[in-house]
Amino acid sequence: KRRVVVLISGNGSNLQALIDAQRHDELGGEIVAVISNRGDAYGLVRAKEAGIDAVVLPHQEYDDREAYDRALIKVIDRHAPDLIVLAGFMRILTPMFVHRYAGRVLNIHPSLLPAYQGLHTHQRALDDGVAEHGASVHFVTEELDGGPVVMQAVVKVGENQSLETLVEKVQAREHLIYPIAARWFLEGRLRLGAEGALFDNMPLPPTGLR
Ligand code: GAR
Repeated sequence: KRRVVVLISGNGSNLQALIDAQRHDELGGEIVAVISNRGDAYGLVRAKEAGIDAVVLPHQEYDDREAYDRALIKVIDRHAPDLIVLAGFMRILTPMFVHRYAGRVLNIHPSLLPAYQGLHTHQRALDDGVAEHGASVHFVTEELDGGPVVMQAVVKVGENQSLETLVEKVQAREHLIYPIAARWFLEGRLRLGAEGALFDNMPLPPTGLR
């Protein structure tokens, strides 16, 4: 079985979507550990309830990013994962980390990348009055929120859309697309090529699709 380590910082609703997919045999692998940089992350409770090894690695206890990432690598390597999934992990990773796991780290970002990299994506989209917003799954590279996009989910932004309902709509789509992207990777149908994400052996689109 392919092994997955999930990194979180908070609620862990995307982690939950991955756990649910695994439970339904739709993940193509097994979540062997969840690591959080925050001890109060609710996702840790979700992990424990699912019987998954939950590890807290508080970033405050390390002098700098390099030291933190070295510790993170130690924990991750104990679990020998095929795939590392960032699910609301709110830390910038060092080039050392990114290179060590090149092509094996996926992230989900709450915008239609390359639009709205960084933080407060939903509020910025609302402030700009965009008609469409969404979420992107992408490979993690040295470029923050800049790695090749694998899959996106689009939501329409209503005239009087509130921040709260927009977040809700986008997150609901995140929970649909992230387990699919993870499964594609774990089944060997998705990989990072020199020019971007590559897809193999995908099911044929339904006839009549334009
Ligand atoms: C998700 O909406 C994810 O897209 C976002 O954090 C949320 C985590 O929710 N990620 C980022 O902003 C990454 N920069 P969750 O903990 O409930 O999965």
